[in-house]
Amino acid sequence: MHSNDPHEIAKEDDGEAFDKTTSKGRENGLFQACMKSIRGAHVTSNRLRAGLVLAGLFTDKSIYREVLSMFYVVTKELEEKLDTLKVSDEICQKIASLDYNFSKGYEKDMAVLYGDDWETIIEDLIQKNKVARYYREMVRNMDSGTQLAGAAFVLWGALIIGGGAVAMPRVKNLCGKDAINVFKDVTGPGREERRNNFVALWDSLASPGSSEFEEIVTFSQECMRCNNNIFTSLQRSPWWLNYFITAGVGIGAICIVILQRRMIKS
Ligand code: HEM
Repeated sequence: MHSNDPHEIAKEDDGEAFDKTTSKGRENGLFQACMKSIRGAHVTSNRLRAGLVLAGLFTDKSIYREVLSMFYVVTKELEEKLDTLKVSDEICQKIASLDYNFSKGYEKDMAVLYGDDWETIIEDLIQKNKVARYYREMVRNMDSGTQLAGAAFVLWGALIIGGGAVAMPRVKNLCGKDAINVFKDVTGPGREERRNNFVALWDSLASPGSSEFEEIVTFSQECMRCNNNIFTSLQRSPWWLNYFITAGVGIGAICIVILQRRMIKS
């Protein structure tokens, strides 16, 4: 059972589940190496996410859709490049053979959350966010499977083997059943099989000691840093914050009046 409470999330974040999944990869293979390379950033991302939960990620639709739109533009770039390079690059071919296309799900969700004009609205948002622009540009300039593997590891991996899919019920509560298309291929029966396929394929991408192996690990680490930067770049207050502050001030004022009356009486 997963909680929305940031303190509970911090408790969950003891790295145990992450390490257990890491051990599913071949000893010293690529999967383990990529997981180890993002472990530190993953602890940070859990904390950032805990902060965002507090800031309204799952209680304010406009915050959720903004985060989603940033991951969308980068994922779209990744999936287009995989599609183009798979004809000549074996690593891209293997990754593409997993047959995920998260962009389609993201696009359906964006249309529900922003309306027909979603593409223009998102592009405006991205233009205002230099972290998202940098990340998208970085993926756009990638020209080999070893580089794209780094982006696929953190953008697909978070959903296929990570805690991403666990967010689905919370998103459903907030945005409704029509806005959870991005989770379609990673929820429901077969999660273990999907994870095992991902892990096995990852270990087959490059052998330990090869330059491809090192490059994939380096790019995974760099892309995970960008994932975290997306969370920190979000400077927004949830809609309920003003009510919260007003209520807090109101309660504070009542307490002061009660205290003053008590002091006068005594
Ligand atoms: C955007 C970046 C990410 C965030 C904010 C994030 C956040 C989280 C959180 C909060 C959990 C705790 C579980 C929960 O709430 O249910 C979790 C679990 C996990 N994450 Fe991530 N994660 C991210 C990316 C990744 C990536 C790139 C991977 C690996 C490719 C990954 C692998 C895992 C694994 C293996 C678990 C344990 C899942 C389980 O067995 O329960 N995460 N993540």
